[in-house]
Amino acid sequence: MRETFLSISIRIFLVSLAWSCMPLKAAQPSPTIHLIPQPQEIQVGEGTFLFSPSTTIGVAHPSQQPVIQLFVDALRRDFGFTSKMVSTDQADIRIITDSSLADESYILDVDTKHITIRSAGNSGVFYAIQSLRQLMPTQSPWCVPAVTIKDSPRFGYRGVMIDVARFFTPKDHLLQIIDCMSMLKLNRLHLHLTDDNGWRIEIKRYPRLTSVGSKRVVRPGKLFPERRNPEPGEPVYEKGFYTQTDIREIVSYAAARQIEVIPEIDLPAHSNAALAAYPALKCPVVDQPTGVLPGLGVARAKIIFCAGNDSVYSFLHNVLDEVMELFPSHYIHIGGDEADKTYWKRCPRCQARMKHEHITNEEDLQGYFMSQLAQYIRSKGRKVIGWDELTNSQTLPEGAVIFGWRGMGQAALKAARQGHPIVMTPAQKLYLIRYQGPQRFEPITYFGNNTLKDVYDYEPVQRDWTSAITQQLLGIQGSLWTEFCQTTADVDYLLFPRMLALAETAWTMPVHKDWNRFLKATDNYCEQLGNMGIVPARSMFNIQESVVPHNGKLQVALDCIRPDVQIRYTLDGTPPSPTSPLYTSPLEVSTDVTIQAATFRDNHQEGETLSFPIHWNKATACPIKTMGATLPYTLTNGVRGTMKYTDSEWCSWNNTDSASFIIDLQRIQPIKYIRLGCINNYGVAVHRPAQIDVLASKDGRKFRPIATYQCDEADLFADGTFREDLSFAFQSKARYVKIQVRGAGICPPSHVRPGQKSRFFFDEVIVE
Ligand code: ACM
Ligand code: ZN
Repeated sequence: MRETFLSISIRIFLVSLAWSCMPLKAAQPSPTIHLIPQPQEIQVGEGTFLFSPSTTIGVAHPSQQPVIQLFVDALRRDFGFTSKMVSTDQADIRIITDSSLADESYILDVDTKHITIRSAGNSGVFYAIQSLRQLMPTQSPWCVPAVTIKDSPRFGYRGVMIDVARFFTPKDHLLQIIDCMSMLKLNRLHLHLTDDNGWRIEIKRYPRLTSVGSKRVVRPGKLFPERRNPEPGEPVYEKGFYTQTDIREIVSYAAARQIEVIPEIDLPAHSNAALAAYPALKCPVVDQPTGVLPGLGVARAKIIFCAGNDSVYSFLHNVLDEVMELFPSHYIHIGGDEADKTYWKRCPRCQARMKHEHITNEEDLQGYFMSQLAQYIRSKGRKVIGWDELTNSQTLPEGAVIFGWRGMGQAALKAARQGHPIVMTPAQKLYLIRYQGPQRFEPITYFGNNTLKDVYDYEPVQRDWTSAITQQLLGIQGSLWTEFCQTTADVDYLLFPRMLALAETAWTMPVHKDWNRFLKATDNYCEQLGNMGIVPARSMFNIQESVVPHNGKLQVALDCIRPDVQIRYTLDGTPPSPTSPLYTSPLEVSTDVTIQAATFRDNHQEGETLSFPIHWNKATACPIKTMGATLPYTLTNGVRGTMKYTDSEWCSWNNTDSASFIIDLQRIQPIKYIRLGCINNYGVAVHRPAQIDVLASKDGRKFRPIATYQCDEADLFADGTFREDLSFAFQSKARYVKIQVRGAGICPPSHVRPGQKSRFFFDEVIVE
């Protein structure tokens, strides 16, 4: 007897190696079906379809042949099968056209004799086959469980962006990413082809775009934000671009897998690579050299295309002609993000253009610039996409699709209210450059965390959205910026497994999402990725600690985003093992201790070992009074920060010029020294303070100075990333200790971030 269709509680099958092909008896455990993304409906049947090396596949229409051929090829490659295509009525696997189904939808019906796929067109057939592939075991017997799946995507736009400008990912790696995307039913690959750091697409009419624009200097051992700008004439070693032949191959490889490749030519900013090649296209007032930037650029990133020069428009039309010829996509992305207007404000040509067009400010000049290009693209029958800064000007280019990225992507809503379609790729949730787990264990990158769970739990449609806004939402995109990638393995690490969560969030209706089921499917899928030579991150198994002062003690919470693991810990300096105490609730600590913990499943350690000492001193767990601080409690929580100032163990202040805080030691007592933990991170302008004054008080009202630190001028803006303790020795008796800090101020001209305000961070105040 068949079960009825269940939307939420789906009976689960296990496609395991040990599973026989006998029809299931009632007492047998149900095998688990691992599918990502989870289909909208699954009805589990009885028995299995036994695949054989000669299972035949029926083609109802010649247009289906390429899609079926891919499946036949995969069966040959993965299993050594020699499946043949035959006419539908004789086939074991039958494809039936059902025009009542929506585009991309499919019904996959597996019984003991046949597999039947129904869909309106090729995309549905392709997606049914992807589900079927995930149902197939990896070894003989080749049984597929009897099942009926009725499936359709939540969103039409299910995208991944790869920044191939910062790190040039070679063509073959891109093809592998396309393979993975297609298995997960992701259907848009947005290629960020151009930026300050490289121009990655051959344009025949302008060969210097690649002969100059795809090459840059190297800064060995320096992270992206620390890299200095190139000097004129400096030799360039790092290079790479896609030839037009490569692009055609990528586009057709993707199209065969139901993926549209959307090119982005980022304009008018993020254009130093293009302007290094064709410097006449920048504003004539630019007073710095132009080169392909190896890092952030800072002042150089202000160099953008001139909006008042007609040659710029004809140049870009010519570039776009070749781009549109190579990419048959519905959409062409023209960027629009982070355009600094410093030079437009000073440029006589830009100002003349504003006067001529009755434009009163530079934001609207950008609106004009983008609209000129958008009109050109529209005249060729394509649609334009831009980042959410396009909403800064009064008029958005007609019909432009806006990508919401800043914060939670809310700027895109302004566009949606004006009737523009939007795609959500909010930095706080879907920027895959961010840390995907506890930062102690992660390679260095930017910003905060976007864990696998953050991506999985992301819900683009907010409660306060009107139905008019919701209707404008085309879908979502995970965006991978590659500032910190040096190898293709780095790209894979950031993409996987978060791409799986992205796929399910984009495809599956929220009511069918289930974190626990998804994790099981993820484990299964990661094995498949391993077979493809991809090493996914295991950050989801790592433990995040949080140590918070509470009533004069410390509460230590240990958390892992996977509920299906056990956290075991030790306090005696030994490594955690499957028999170590089980963590069930926060631990209370009131002395020196080293906490070690790890996650376990079936007696097997899954994550890395977390190990950190808590050093108890006179300030530990004492209350702190301060204003405008982020994470002030970390100053007295006994735990030291890592080399990542975003790891949640560092305290900072909104006011970067100065700050002060008072620690209440709870009773008057002798104190003889203070150590203050600082971090220096040159690339992001985090530096030791210029001056620190320590004051003491018995009553909390009258403070007297007891020690001072003054940084030598030469050490103020030190290069590199390092931690140091600033120590103050004295003899005093006090209950209250006040620390007054003056920041290092503005980064000097020789700094990688000249003119930028520096910041200061402390992780701990140690009082003895
Ligand atoms: C962006 O992150 N600048 C779109
Ligand atoms: Zn100009």
